[in-house]
Amino acid sequence: DRLAAFIARLPKAELHVHVEGTLEPGMMFELAERNGVELPWPDPAAAAAARAQYTCLEDFLAAYYAGMSVLRTTRDYKQLADAYLARAAAQGVRHAEVFFDPQAHLERGVPFSTFLPGLAAAVQAAPQRHGLTASLIMCFVRHLGPQAAADTLEQALPHLPLICGVGLDSSELGHPPHQYRALFERAAQLGLHRVAHAGEEGPAEYVAEAVSLLGVERVDHGLHCLDDPQLVERLEAMRMPLTVCPLSNLQLQVYKGCLGEKLTQLVRDTRLVITVNSDDPAYFLPPSKAACSGGYVNANYLYLAEVAGLDEAALAELAANSFRASFLGPAAKEAHVAEVA
Ligand code: HPA
Ligand code: ZN
Repeated sequence: DRLAAFIARLPKAELHVHVEGTLEPGMMFELAERNGVELPWPDPAAAAAARAQYTCLEDFLAAYYAGMSVLRTTRDYKQLADAYLARAAAQGVRHAEVFFDPQAHLERGVPFSTFLPGLAAAVQAAPQRHGLTASLIMCFVRHLGPQAAADTLEQALPHLPLICGVGLDSSELGHPPHQYRALFERAAQLGLHRVAHAGEEGPAEYVAEAVSLLGVERVDHGLHCLDDPQLVERLEAMRMPLTVCPLSNLQLQVYKGCLGEKLTQLVRDTRLVITVNSDDPAYFLPPSKAACSGGYVNANYLYLAEVAGLDEAALAELAANSFRASFLGPAAKEAHVAEVA
């Protein structure tokens, strides 16, 4: 329809997408065969069908880590990232800041020197190949704890020129951000940008900790800040961007009660700097097979527009926010924002 066509044409940045979460069932089985890896599903159709079953973060994460076990060679990582960047470009994405989970690969015996060159090759080729810019954000997985994260940062030192920033993801409840304070100080000293998942399943307090103790420049998800009106005011005053992922939140049921009401509150009733993102687009699909392909960023804009009743001007503002909240330089930001208007 008209809104879907408007969204498809809108130039946008994607700031919250896990490269491992862009692994579609087809490529998953192709790589499984190429690398001789066993998957917990018999075929791509079964893996695709299983996606509908994940109803909380932990269930999803189990499937996400199982799926990515097929990634073994530099070629695999390059193929995965390149396929995502091609699909993103086709959705009007002009700039992508892409998360990866080094520990999920290191734990399986795949070293930095294998996965990082693959991801970086795809990112470096993106302007020529697909007409968008991209950068890489290294996330630490909270389920392995702060010491493992600190060791990972030290292992990454030889590769820092290829890494734009650090983030924090995986399990949230029971892993408050303050545990990562020293790590994020070290990252800041190394000149890295900082973001963190907070307030996805976790409470508003975790969002407050990420902002005040980790010095993050964006909050990933951040939805549960709504439970603390004073925190919302602080985030508004700081112009702290939230990278919201509507279809992920819907699928993982991160808000008890009506998610649509919460999303509406975020975009209509606050002055928060909201951006729209896909999180793990190969895993989180729209509820109705809408005028969008899969769970990529445009399906997230369309779902949000439908539940919150957004018009074209509001959607353009969200797209402009995505560039403002990016780690692009001021001139590039300004050029992209001007292109949206
Ligand atoms: N939350 C936490 N960790 C993740 C996610 C998410 O939505 N996706 C991939 N890793
Ligand atoms: Zn995420």
